[in-house]
Amino acid sequence: KRHLLSAGDLTRDDAELILSTAAELRDLADRPIKKLPALRGRTVVNLFFEDSTRTRISFEAAAKRLSADVINFAAKGSSVSKGESLKDTALTLEAMGADAVVVRHGASGAPHRLAHSGWVRSSVVNAGDGTHEHPTQALLDAFTMWRHLGQSRPGGLEGRRVAIVGDVLHSRVARSNALLLQTLGAEVTLVAPPTLLPVGVETWPVETSYDIDRVLPGVDAVMMLRVQRERMNGGFFPTPREYSRRYGLDARRMAALQDHTIVMHPGPMVRGMEITADVADSERSVIVEQVTNGVAVRMAVLYLLLGGNESGA
Ligand code: CP
Repeated sequence: KRHLLSAGDLTRDDAELILSTAAELRDLADRPIKKLPALRGRTVVNLFFEDSTRTRISFEAAAKRLSADVINFAAKGSSVSKGESLKDTALTLEAMGADAVVVRHGASGAPHRLAHSGWVRSSVVNAGDGTHEHPTQALLDAFTMWRHLGQSRPGGLEGRRVAIVGDVLHSRVARSNALLLQTLGAEVTLVAPPTLLPVGVETWPVETSYDIDRVLPGVDAVMMLRVQRERMNGGFFPTPREYSRRYGLDARRMAALQDHTIVMHPGPMVRGMEITADVADSERSVIVEQVTNGVAVRMAVLYLLLGGNESGA
């Protein structure tokens, strides 16, 4: 494939190739020589119209570890603030010889537009678009789950149960995870108040529940989502306090998990809202490891898209 726009575009073979490549690259990164020559002479542009800490730095680290040249573009401080369009921004990058454009945008569908418009010849990687998708986050989450719950079993993540809890309505992470985990054979339950589940969720390949306490004892991984108040236009029901009480992961709820169950969060976290600090920092939490795994997964994605194999990922 030329682009990575949606987790739903990946076949099981595609996803497993990315995960196994990430595993090899993570092992190599543990060795003293951290830089590989695979993408020497290629240029990766990080095109970020929305704020990011993890994803932007992670793509930069991934591209540099593969010896690519990296150009970081943030809309803030660029000519976008003077009204320059996505098209003209893309044409400018194309003129500078980008081989891959990693794009984060507040508008759902912006990476698809970039990939299919003919404005750029480069590969387009969706680094999060609006409330739509965040496929590399889902890949790094699946990689983290696989390391803890799948690699010692014949079916990998087949039949493993995952709860995704919180503001599903505004979450591109939840949608990408639901699509990818289904492809990998895992079973997903979305847990949220009715006001934070999207219209049409019944068409997603998931179960849904309003009751976190019924779901937690049966799952192998629990992924907490941030409440995205910046996308709520001032309204938030239930109230933050009520939300925390009914849907927050605290020590009492963590005690209901099975011994092997891992606690995940894509970040950024709001400690004290969807997760308490003691849970976020506990032995069960793999939140920091998710970030480490993100670099290996993004190395695998760039490597496979830009030149790792002739037939594509
Ligand atoms: N998980 C994630 O996408 O984090 P950032 O917004 O910091 O990139």
